[in-house]
Amino acid sequence: MMDDMADHILKSRYLLPGEKDFTDICRRVAGWIGRDEAESGAFFRMMESGEFLPNSPALMNAGTPCNQLAGCFVIPVGNTITGIFEAVKQGAIIQMTGGGTGYNFSEIAPAGTTAEPGGAISPGPVAFLSVFDTVSEVIRQGGRRRGANMGILDIRHPDILAFIDAKDKEGKLSHFNLSVTVPDAVMEAFEGGEREEILSIHPATGRENTIGSVFDAIINGIHRNGEPGLLFSDAINRENRTPHLGEITATNPCGEEPLLPFEACILGSINLARFIEESTLDWKRLERTVRLAVRFLDLAIDRSSYPLPENEDAVKKTRKIGLGVMGLHDALILLGLPYDSPSARECAEEMMAFISETAVDESKRLAEVFGPFPAWEGSVWEKPVRNATLTTIAPTGTISLFAGCSPGIEPVYSFAFWRNNTAGAEFEVIHPLFSARLDEEIASLGYHGDEGRARQKAVIEEVRRCGSLQHIGWLSFEFRKLFVSALDISWRDHLLMQAAFQRHTHASIAKTINLPHTTGHEAIREAILSAWKLSLKGITLYRTGSRRASVYSLTGCR
Ligand code: CDP
Repeated sequence: MMDDMADHILKSRYLLPGEKDFTDICRRVAGWIGRDEAESGAFFRMMESGEFLPNSPALMNAGTPCNQLAGCFVIPVGNTITGIFEAVKQGAIIQMTGGGTGYNFSEIAPAGTTAEPGGAISPGPVAFLSVFDTVSEVIRQGGRRRGANMGILDIRHPDILAFIDAKDKEGKLSHFNLSVTVPDAVMEAFEGGEREEILSIHPATGRENTIGSVFDAIINGIHRNGEPGLLFSDAINRENRTPHLGEITATNPCGEEPLLPFEACILGSINLARFIEESTLDWKRLERTVRLAVRFLDLAIDRSSYPLPENEDAVKKTRKIGLGVMGLHDALILLGLPYDSPSARECAEEMMAFISETAVDESKRLAEVFGPFPAWEGSVWEKPVRNATLTTIAPTGTISLFAGCSPGIEPVYSFAFWRNNTAGAEFEVIHPLFSARLDEEIASLGYHGDEGRARQKAVIEEVRRCGSLQHIGWLSFEFRKLFVSALDISWRDHLLMQAAFQRHTHASIAKTINLPHTTGHEAIREAILSAWKLSLKGITLYRTGSRRASVYSLTGCR
């Protein structure tokens, strides 16, 4: 199930001394989390079969002296120099253990204004970003992988334009994703075509930041190189399950976990493709796996160490877990449903609704035995549950490679491509389902022997060049529709899939809306508005080819 790339990552970063292969990792992790042999055995089988995998820190650290299992953290940043550098220190400690950190910088005084009682002048939030970025560069998540941060600023902060342009050149702040939080009132004005309304006046320069100028900058930034993302703060807080503990103002680095200050979350994802047998979904087995995965993640909270005492306190109050899915696109192909079809979205919605409902039911059962999460009283949950939120959709960038499936709920980027790893090695990747079905397709069109092989080679080369096979007219329409890839799919269909999942996901969704290179500013504007109207909690757009460094390298076309 693992290709060369996955094998390389596994050997270079995940295996501990004395471990030979992935099975050894599963044995260590399951043995550490399970309370007895039977439970560890069940966890082991679920992981080893590729049905479910926890996030990378759990695979790397479970049962080791570090033993920090969570991938996602949020750290509050104050508005004093002491508070800001306290957050720097806390972020460093967390990243040392392999966790990614999200920060909202909106409380920092605008650049050039008097910030402290002593009369010192604030460098502003944007200047501090590079301090946090340098820490990640130095720490490199305990030397095991690139550090990841989310930097957030409220659209009404006077330094918003500098923030939006903070990554205008490739390579700047390379450990950060940047997101702007936007409340409904601003989105409503933007939707109504309002341009002149003032969002903030810069106290040092007197510059007026209007809705028009700020959204122009956001759209230009996205067009330029895919940043910033947007976070819809009211949508996030409408679904805050513990409003009595405060407002949510930040997410982890890839956006899937809106969290309270100091909260952390251990993620784990179910590989949907593993549950398709002879073109149907095995609901019974899926149910068993969801229940087992909830127990795994809930136990992991108590089996994990925490980088800071504040993390342990916050996590153990709400006991949030991050159960998600991966392998969606593979599952849809096995079911014969094109990713961008209404029937695929209906199916996706049915699967995620089932997973969320089953997870909540299991959490209720756990609450009966072990008690509800301590902050349950005053939360929006009427009946006791063990976990304040249960479901999320993570990118599964690495664990999907180990499971040998398509990442998260993303469409396959290209069914054949060269992939660079961080060590600079190139790997040839051909999607296994595609390769098998292509053979059948070519045979069914009557091409055999040398002719068949030549046609197969030509298709693969073309897909490698363009990331698409839609223009290869001699392949059947059905085959081409089934093998649509990320750039064949319109932004509307990307968003509709995200919305189908969001309706049944407690936390949020990590998803990139991939756009063809030729996409213009107007389409980006429309996509932002549509995402908000679909009640999404955020949106990340990326115009292909707008950054040179990309994990994928296609050689031509778009
Ligand atoms: O597949 P894997 O478990 O490695 O991670 P993912 O699903 O791609 O990312 C999940 C979360 O892990 C991200 O949102 C970050 O919070 C964190 N992460 C990180 O801290 N550093 C990375 N290099 C990648 C992910």
